[in-house]
Amino acid sequence: MAATVSSLFSDQGPINPIEQTYRRLLRQGRPVIRLFSGNPNEHGIHFPGEVLSQEYARYFAQPGYRPDPKGDPAARMAIQEYYAAQGSAVAAENIILTSGTSESFFYIFSLIASPGDNILTPNPSYPLFDYIAGLARIELRHYRLMEDRAWAVDLADLAGRIDERTRAIVVISPNNPTGSVTTADQIREIVQVANRHDLAIISDEVYSEFIFDLPAFPRINSVSRPRLLFTLNGISKMFALPALKLGWIAVTGDSLRVAQAVDMLETIADTFLSTHLPIQLALPRLFREGGPFLSWYQAEVRRRRDLAIHLLQQSRRIRFNPPQGGFHLMAAVEAGRGLDEEEFVIGLMKETGVFVHPGYFYDYEAGVHIALSFLTNPADLQAGLERLSQFVAAL
Ligand SMILES: Cc1ncc(COP(=O)(O)O)c(C=O)c1O
Repeated sequence: MAATVSSLFSDQGPINPIEQTYRRLLRQGRPVIRLFSGNPNEHGIHFPGEVLSQEYARYFAQPGYRPDPKGDPAARMAIQEYYAAQGSAVAAENIILTSGTSESFFYIFSLIASPGDNILTPNPSYPLFDYIAGLARIELRHYRLMEDRAWAVDLADLAGRIDERTRAIVVISPNNPTGSVTTADQIREIVQVANRHDLAIISDEVYSEFIFDLPAFPRINSVSRPRLLFTLNGISKMFALPALKLGWIAVTGDSLRVAQAVDMLETIADTFLSTHLPIQLALPRLFREGGPFLSWYQAEVRRRRDLAIHLLQQSRRIRFNPPQGGFHLMAAVEAGRGLDEEEFVIGLMKETGVFVHPGYFYDYEAGVHIALSFLTNPADLQAGLERLSQFVAAL
Protein backbone atom coordinates (compact mmCIF):
# COMPACT_ATOMS: atom_id res chain seq x y z
CA MET A 1 0.00 0.00 0.00
CA ALA A 2 1.35 3.46 -0.90
CA ALA A 3 2.53 5.29 2.16
CA THR A 4 2.60 8.97 1.32
CA VAL A 5 0.54 11.46 3.26
CA SER A 6 -1.15 12.69 0.08
CA SER A 7 -2.22 9.15 -0.85
CA LEU A 8 -3.99 8.77 2.46
CA PHE A 9 -6.30 11.64 1.67
CA SER A 10 -6.42 11.46 -2.09
CA ASP A 11 -10.19 11.85 -2.16
CA GLN A 12 -9.96 15.18 -0.33
CA GLY A 13 -10.03 17.78 -3.08
CA PRO A 14 -9.68 21.54 -2.65
CA ILE A 15 -11.94 23.34 -0.16
CA ASN A 16 -15.53 22.32 -0.85
CA PRO A 17 -18.03 24.84 -2.30
CA ILE A 18 -19.89 25.13 1.03
CA GLU A 19 -16.75 26.17 2.91
CA GLN A 20 -15.83 28.50 0.03
CA THR A 21 -19.21 30.21 0.34
CA TYR A 22 -18.74 30.58 4.09
CA ARG A 23 -15.30 32.14 3.68
CA ARG A 24 -16.58 34.51 1.00
CA LEU A 25 -19.41 35.70 3.25
CA LEU A 26 -16.94 36.28 6.08
CA ARG A 27 -14.65 38.27 3.78
CA GLN A 28 -17.67 40.40 2.84
CA GLY A 29 -18.27 41.05 6.53
CA ARG A 30 -21.58 39.15 6.58
CA PRO A 31 -22.39 37.59 9.95
CA VAL A 32 -22.99 33.83 9.68
CA ILE A 33 -24.68 31.66 12.31
CA ARG A 34 -22.83 28.34 12.43
CA LEU A 35 -25.43 25.81 13.50
CA PHE A 36 -23.31 22.70 13.82
CA SER A 37 -20.54 23.10 16.36
CA GLY A 38 -20.52 20.61 19.24
CA ASN A 39 -17.95 22.64 21.15
CA PRO A 40 -19.67 23.70 24.41
CA ASN A 41 -17.22 26.57 24.98
CA GLU A 42 -18.28 28.13 21.68
CA HIS A 43 -21.82 28.32 23.07
CA GLY A 44 -21.15 29.86 26.47
CA ILE A 45 -20.78 26.65 28.50
CA HIS A 46 -17.67 26.55 30.70
CA PHE A 47 -16.60 24.39 33.63
CA PRO A 48 -16.09 26.54 36.80
CA GLY A 49 -12.72 28.22 36.27
CA GLU A 50 -11.84 28.48 39.97
CA VAL A 51 -11.69 24.70 40.43
CA LEU A 52 -9.26 24.42 37.55
CA SER A 53 -7.12 27.36 38.61
CA GLN A 54 -6.84 25.93 42.12
CA GLU A 55 -5.81 22.56 40.69
CA TYR A 56 -3.24 24.11 38.38
CA ALA A 57 -1.91 26.26 41.26
CA ARG A 58 -1.60 23.11 43.37
CA TYR A 59 0.40 21.47 40.62
CA PHE A 60 2.73 24.44 40.17
CA ALA A 61 3.28 24.73 43.91
CA GLN A 62 5.03 21.37 43.61
CA PRO A 63 5.75 20.83 39.94
CA GLY A 64 7.06 17.49 38.88
CA TYR A 65 6.70 14.83 36.23
CA ARG A 66 6.15 11.19 37.08
CA PRO A 67 4.95 9.68 33.86
CA ASP A 68 2.81 6.59 34.10
CA PRO A 69 2.03 5.35 30.58
CA LYS A 70 -1.49 4.32 31.58
CA GLY A 71 -2.06 7.66 33.28
CA ASP A 72 -2.10 8.87 36.86
CA PRO A 73 -3.41 6.08 39.18
CA ALA A 74 -5.72 8.40 41.14
CA ALA A 75 -7.29 9.63 37.91
CA ARG A 76 -7.86 6.05 36.75
CA MET A 77 -9.36 5.17 40.13
CA ALA A 78 -11.74 8.14 39.81
CA ILE A 79 -12.87 6.79 36.43
CA GLN A 80 -13.39 3.32 37.93
CA GLU A 81 -15.60 4.92 40.59
CA TYR A 82 -17.51 6.91 37.97
CA TYR A 83 -18.47 3.66 36.23
CA ALA A 84 -19.08 1.78 39.49
CA ALA A 85 -21.60 4.44 40.54
CA GLN A 86 -23.55 3.52 37.39
CA GLY A 87 -23.38 -0.20 38.04
CA SER A 88 -20.62 -0.85 35.53
CA ALA A 89 -17.48 -2.69 36.66
CA VAL A 90 -14.22 -1.46 35.16
CA ALA A 91 -10.87 -1.97 36.91
CA ALA A 92 -8.58 1.07 37.21
CA GLU A 93 -5.67 -1.08 35.98
CA ASN A 94 -7.59 -1.61 32.73
CA ILE A 95 -8.08 2.09 32.05
CA ILE A 96 -5.68 4.05 29.86
CA LEU A 97 -5.71 7.83 29.75
CA THR A 98 -5.29 9.54 26.39
CA SER A 99 -5.32 13.10 25.17
CA GLY A 100 -8.84 12.74 23.79
CA THR A 101 -11.25 10.31 22.20
CA SER A 102 -9.83 10.86 18.74
CA GLU A 103 -6.45 9.68 20.02
CA SER A 104 -8.16 6.75 21.76
CA PHE A 105 -9.59 5.66 18.42
CA PHE A 106 -6.18 5.89 16.78
CA TYR A 107 -4.58 3.78 19.52
CA ILE A 108 -7.28 1.11 19.28
CA PHE A 109 -7.37 1.01 15.48
CA SER A 110 -3.57 0.62 15.50
CA LEU A 111 -3.78 -2.08 18.15
CA ILE A 112 -6.46 -4.33 16.71
CA ALA A 113 -6.11 -3.91 12.97
CA SER A 114 -3.31 -4.26 10.44
CA PRO A 115 -3.19 -2.39 7.13
CA GLY A 116 -5.95 -3.79 4.93
CA ASP A 117 -8.13 -4.97 7.81
CA ASN A 118 -11.52 -3.34 8.23
CA ILE A 119 -13.64 -1.90 11.03
CA LEU A 120 -17.39 -1.30 10.94
CA THR A 121 -18.71 2.17 11.75
CA PRO A 122 -22.29 3.48 11.67
CA ASN A 123 -23.63 5.55 8.82
CA PRO A 124 -24.38 8.36 9.23
CA SER A 125 -21.73 9.27 11.76
CA TYR A 126 -18.96 11.63 12.63
CA PRO A 127 -16.46 11.92 9.71
CA LEU A 128 -13.41 11.88 11.99
CA PHE A 129 -13.11 8.10 11.72
CA ASP A 130 -12.27 8.29 8.02
CA TYR A 131 -9.15 10.30 8.79
CA ILE A 132 -8.09 8.12 11.70
CA ALA A 133 -8.61 4.96 9.68
CA GLY A 134 -6.55 6.58 6.89
CA LEU A 135 -3.67 7.18 9.29
CA ALA A 136 -3.87 3.59 10.56
CA ARG A 137 -4.24 2.43 6.91
CA ILE A 138 -7.33 0.38 7.58
CA GLU A 139 -10.62 0.26 5.74
CA LEU A 140 -13.82 1.60 7.26
CA ARG A 141 -17.04 -0.13 6.35
CA HIS A 142 -20.24 1.69 7.09
CA TYR A 143 -23.23 -0.15 8.49
CA ARG A 144 -26.63 1.42 8.07
CA LEU A 145 -28.67 3.29 10.66
CA MET A 146 -32.33 3.26 9.59
CA GLU A 147 -33.76 6.74 9.42
CA ASP A 148 -37.34 5.47 9.23
CA ARG A 149 -36.85 3.45 12.42
CA ALA A 150 -35.49 6.20 14.64
CA TRP A 151 -31.97 5.50 13.35
CA ALA A 152 -31.92 1.95 14.72
CA VAL A 153 -28.96 -0.19 13.65
CA ASP A 154 -29.71 -2.34 10.56
CA LEU A 155 -28.37 -5.61 11.96
CA ALA A 156 -28.66 -7.53 8.69
CA ASP A 157 -26.67 -4.83 6.94
CA LEU A 158 -24.06 -4.87 9.71
CA ALA A 159 -23.68 -8.66 9.67
CA GLY A 160 -23.47 -8.67 5.86
CA ARG A 161 -20.42 -6.41 5.90
CA ILE A 162 -18.30 -8.69 8.06
CA ASP A 163 -15.57 -10.73 6.41
CA GLU A 164 -12.37 -12.45 7.55
CA ARG A 165 -10.54 -9.11 7.74
CA THR A 166 -13.10 -7.40 9.98
CA ARG A 167 -11.68 -6.64 13.43
CA ALA A 168 -14.21 -4.52 15.29
CA ILE A 169 -17.61 -2.85 15.40
CA VAL A 170 -17.77 0.79 16.44
CA VAL A 171 -20.92 1.77 18.32
CA ILE A 172 -21.55 5.48 18.87
CA SER A 173 -24.31 6.15 21.35
CA PRO A 174 -25.60 8.81 21.56
CA ASN A 175 -24.59 9.27 17.95
CA ASN A 176 -23.33 12.35 16.17
CA PRO A 177 -25.16 13.58 14.07
CA THR A 178 -28.37 11.54 14.44
CA GLY A 179 -28.85 12.03 18.21
CA SER A 180 -29.90 8.39 18.42
CA VAL A 181 -29.23 6.13 21.42
CA THR A 182 -28.66 2.41 20.90
CA THR A 183 -31.28 0.46 22.85
CA ALA A 184 -30.42 -2.38 25.27
CA ASP A 185 -32.01 -4.90 22.88
CA GLN A 186 -29.95 -3.65 19.97
CA ILE A 187 -26.80 -3.73 22.06
CA ARG A 188 -27.42 -7.39 22.92
CA GLU A 189 -27.88 -8.24 19.25
CA ILE A 190 -24.76 -6.34 18.18
CA VAL A 191 -22.74 -8.05 20.91
CA GLN A 192 -24.02 -11.46 19.77
CA VAL A 193 -22.82 -10.72 16.24
CA ALA A 194 -19.46 -9.47 17.54
CA ASN A 195 -18.91 -12.49 19.77
CA ARG A 196 -19.93 -14.90 17.03
CA HIS A 197 -17.30 -13.41 14.68
CA ASP A 198 -14.76 -12.75 17.42
CA LEU A 199 -14.80 -8.98 16.88
CA ALA A 200 -14.01 -6.31 19.43
CA ILE A 201 -16.53 -3.58 20.17
CA ILE A 202 -15.45 0.03 20.41
CA SER A 203 -18.07 2.07 22.22
CA ASP A 204 -17.87 5.85 21.81
CA GLU A 205 -19.86 7.28 24.74
CA VAL A 206 -18.68 10.89 24.69
CA TYR A 207 -22.30 12.11 24.80
CA SER A 208 -23.54 9.60 27.39
CA GLU A 209 -24.21 12.29 30.02
CA PHE A 210 -26.74 13.93 27.71
CA ILE A 211 -29.76 11.63 27.46
CA PHE A 212 -33.34 12.81 26.92
CA ASP A 213 -36.67 11.05 27.56
CA LEU A 214 -35.03 7.75 28.52
CA PRO A 215 -34.84 6.40 32.07
CA ALA A 216 -31.11 5.70 31.78
CA PHE A 217 -28.29 5.41 29.30
CA PRO A 218 -28.03 1.78 28.07
CA ARG A 219 -24.33 1.04 28.67
CA ILE A 220 -22.91 -1.90 26.70
CA ASN A 221 -21.04 -3.17 29.72
CA SER A 222 -24.18 -3.19 31.85
CA VAL A 223 -26.52 -5.00 29.46
CA SER A 224 -24.27 -7.52 27.73
CA ARG A 225 -20.96 -9.43 27.83
CA PRO A 226 -18.71 -8.63 24.89
CA ARG A 227 -15.50 -10.64 24.70
CA LEU A 228 -13.50 -7.48 24.21
CA LEU A 229 -14.95 -4.02 24.73
CA PHE A 230 -13.21 -0.66 24.57
CA THR A 231 -15.33 2.06 26.19
CA LEU A 232 -14.30 5.59 25.24
CA ASN A 233 -15.08 8.83 26.95
CA GLY A 234 -13.37 12.02 28.13
CA ILE A 235 -13.83 15.46 29.59
CA SER A 236 -14.33 17.44 26.40
CA LYS A 237 -18.11 16.94 26.32
CA MET A 238 -18.74 15.58 29.83
CA PHE A 239 -17.24 18.58 31.63
CA ALA A 240 -17.18 21.01 28.70
CA LEU A 241 -13.37 21.00 28.74
CA PRO A 242 -12.30 20.30 25.15
CA ALA A 243 -9.17 22.45 25.48
CA LEU A 244 -7.73 20.41 28.34
CA LYS A 245 -7.45 17.27 26.24
CA LEU A 246 -8.18 14.30 28.43
CA GLY A 247 -9.89 11.11 27.34
CA TRP A 248 -9.77 7.48 28.36
CA ILE A 249 -10.14 3.92 27.16
CA ALA A 250 -11.71 1.42 29.59
CA VAL A 251 -11.07 -2.19 28.57
CA THR A 252 -13.41 -5.00 29.69
CA GLY A 253 -14.26 -8.52 28.57
CA ASP A 254 -12.55 -11.93 28.73
CA SER A 255 -9.66 -11.57 31.15
CA LEU A 256 -6.91 -12.86 28.87
CA ARG A 257 -7.95 -10.64 25.99
CA VAL A 258 -8.27 -7.65 28.28
CA ALA A 259 -4.79 -8.25 29.74
CA GLN A 260 -3.24 -8.50 26.28
CA ALA A 261 -5.05 -5.41 24.98
CA VAL A 262 -4.16 -3.33 28.04
CA ASP A 263 -0.54 -4.40 27.79
CA MET A 264 -0.32 -3.29 24.18
CA LEU A 265 -2.23 -0.06 24.78
CA GLU A 266 0.21 0.71 27.56
CA THR A 267 3.10 0.25 25.12
CA ILE A 268 1.45 2.56 22.58
CA ALA A 269 0.75 5.15 25.27
CA ASP A 270 4.34 4.84 26.52
CA THR A 271 5.59 5.62 23.03
CA PHE A 272 3.93 9.03 23.06
CA LEU A 273 3.29 9.90 26.74
CA SER A 274 0.96 12.51 25.28
CA THR A 275 -1.43 13.14 28.14
CA HIS A 276 -0.98 16.45 29.92
CA LEU A 277 -0.25 15.77 33.60
CA PRO A 278 -1.96 18.60 35.57
CA ILE A 279 -5.38 17.77 34.14
CA GLN A 280 -4.88 14.09 35.07
CA LEU A 281 -4.17 15.17 38.64
CA ALA A 282 -7.27 17.36 38.61
CA LEU A 283 -9.61 14.64 37.32
CA PRO A 284 -10.68 13.18 40.70
CA ARG A 285 -11.76 16.66 41.77
CA LEU A 286 -13.70 17.21 38.54
CA PHE A 287 -15.69 14.07 39.28
CA ARG A 288 -16.05 14.92 42.97
CA GLU A 289 -17.12 18.54 42.55
CA GLY A 290 -18.39 18.67 38.96
CA GLY A 291 -21.88 17.39 39.82
CA PRO A 292 -23.71 20.71 40.20
CA PHE A 293 -22.12 22.09 37.03
CA LEU A 294 -23.00 18.91 35.11
CA SER A 295 -26.63 19.07 36.30
CA TRP A 296 -26.91 22.67 35.13
CA TYR A 297 -25.21 21.82 31.83
CA GLN A 298 -27.48 18.79 31.21
CA ALA A 299 -30.58 20.90 31.86
CA GLU A 300 -29.26 23.58 29.51
CA VAL A 301 -28.60 21.08 26.71
CA ARG A 302 -32.10 19.63 27.20
CA ARG A 303 -33.63 23.11 27.07
CA ARG A 304 -31.83 23.89 23.82
CA ARG A 305 -32.80 20.49 22.39
CA ASP A 306 -36.47 21.17 23.26
CA LEU A 307 -36.26 24.59 21.64
CA ALA A 308 -34.79 23.08 18.47
CA ILE A 309 -37.53 20.42 18.31
CA HIS A 310 -40.24 23.02 18.85
CA LEU A 311 -38.92 25.31 16.12
CA LEU A 312 -38.26 22.56 13.58
CA GLN A 313 -41.69 21.05 14.12
CA GLN A 314 -43.21 24.30 12.85
CA SER A 315 -42.11 23.35 9.34
CA ARG A 316 -44.04 20.63 7.54
CA ARG A 317 -41.22 20.31 5.01
CA ILE A 318 -38.63 19.32 7.61
CA ARG A 319 -38.78 15.81 9.10
CA PHE A 320 -36.54 14.43 11.79
CA ASN A 321 -36.28 11.91 14.61
CA PRO A 322 -36.24 13.87 17.88
CA PRO A 323 -32.75 13.41 19.32
CA GLN A 324 -32.61 11.09 22.34
CA GLY A 325 -29.11 12.11 23.34
CA GLY A 326 -26.02 14.13 22.52
CA PHE A 327 -25.81 17.54 20.88
CA HIS A 328 -26.90 16.88 17.28
CA LEU A 329 -29.77 15.97 15.01
CA MET A 330 -30.18 15.18 11.36
CA ALA A 331 -33.24 16.27 9.39
CA ALA A 332 -34.65 15.49 5.95
CA VAL A 333 -35.71 18.57 4.00
CA GLU A 334 -38.20 18.75 1.18
CA ALA A 335 -36.11 21.32 -0.61
CA GLY A 336 -38.28 22.34 -3.56
CA ARG A 337 -37.03 24.19 -6.67
CA GLY A 338 -35.18 20.97 -7.49
CA LEU A 339 -32.28 21.97 -5.27
CA ASP A 340 -29.81 19.26 -4.40
CA GLU A 341 -28.32 19.03 -0.93
CA GLU A 342 -25.30 21.20 -1.60
CA GLU A 343 -27.32 23.84 -3.45
CA PHE A 344 -29.75 23.91 -0.56
CA VAL A 345 -27.04 24.42 2.06
CA ILE A 346 -25.29 27.10 -0.02
CA GLY A 347 -28.59 28.84 -0.84
CA LEU A 348 -29.57 28.88 2.81
CA MET A 349 -26.23 30.35 3.83
CA LYS A 350 -26.20 33.01 1.12
CA GLU A 351 -29.80 34.12 1.60
CA THR A 352 -30.16 33.87 5.36
CA GLY A 353 -26.63 33.73 6.82
CA VAL A 354 -27.29 30.31 8.38
CA PHE A 355 -24.69 27.58 7.97
CA VAL A 356 -25.81 23.96 8.49
CA HIS A 357 -23.97 20.84 7.41
CA PRO A 358 -25.22 18.74 4.50
CA GLY A 359 -25.82 15.01 5.05
CA TYR A 360 -23.00 14.12 2.70
CA PHE A 361 -20.43 15.53 5.19
CA TYR A 362 -21.47 12.47 7.24
CA ASP A 363 -21.41 10.09 4.26
CA TYR A 364 -25.20 10.14 4.24
CA GLU A 365 -26.58 10.49 0.74
CA ALA A 366 -30.34 10.00 0.71
CA GLY A 367 -31.94 13.15 -0.66
CA VAL A 368 -31.56 16.53 1.02
CA HIS A 369 -30.49 16.19 4.65
CA ILE A 370 -29.01 18.66 7.05
CA ALA A 371 -27.15 18.09 10.31
CA LEU A 372 -27.09 20.62 13.09
CA SER A 373 -26.08 21.05 16.70
CA PHE A 374 -28.76 22.22 19.12
CA LEU A 375 -25.99 23.08 21.59
CA THR A 376 -25.81 26.41 19.78
CA ASN A 377 -26.54 29.31 22.13
CA PRO A 378 -30.33 29.84 22.34
CA ALA A 379 -30.39 33.26 20.62
CA ASP A 380 -28.50 31.98 17.57
CA LEU A 381 -30.35 28.66 17.67
CA GLN A 382 -33.72 30.42 17.58
CA ALA A 383 -32.72 32.92 14.90
CA GLY A 384 -31.02 30.22 12.83
CA LEU A 385 -33.91 27.76 12.93
CA GLU A 386 -36.54 30.44 12.25
CA ARG A 387 -34.60 31.57 9.19
CA LEU A 388 -34.21 27.95 8.09
CA SER A 389 -38.00 27.40 8.29
CA GLN A 390 -38.71 30.61 6.39
CA PHE A 391 -36.21 29.70 3.72
CA VAL A 392 -37.69 26.22 3.30
CA ALA A 393 -41.25 27.61 3.20
CA ALA A 394 -40.33 30.07 0.46
CA LEU A 395 -38.81 27.44 -1.86
C1 LIG B 1 -19.03 11.00 18.40
C2 LIG B 1 -17.77 11.73 18.77
N1 LIG B 1 -16.70 11.03 19.21
C3 LIG B 1 -15.56 11.65 19.57
C4 LIG B 1 -15.41 13.02 19.48
C5 LIG B 1 -14.11 13.65 19.87
O1 LIG B 1 -13.95 13.66 21.24
P1 LIG B 1 -12.63 14.27 21.93
O2 LIG B 1 -12.82 15.74 22.04
O3 LIG B 1 -12.55 13.58 23.25
O4 LIG B 1 -11.47 13.89 21.05
C6 LIG B 1 -16.49 13.79 19.03
C7 LIG B 1 -16.37 15.25 18.92
O5 LIG B 1 -17.21 15.97 18.49
C8 LIG B 1 -17.69 13.13 18.66
O6 LIG B 1 -18.75 13.82 18.17
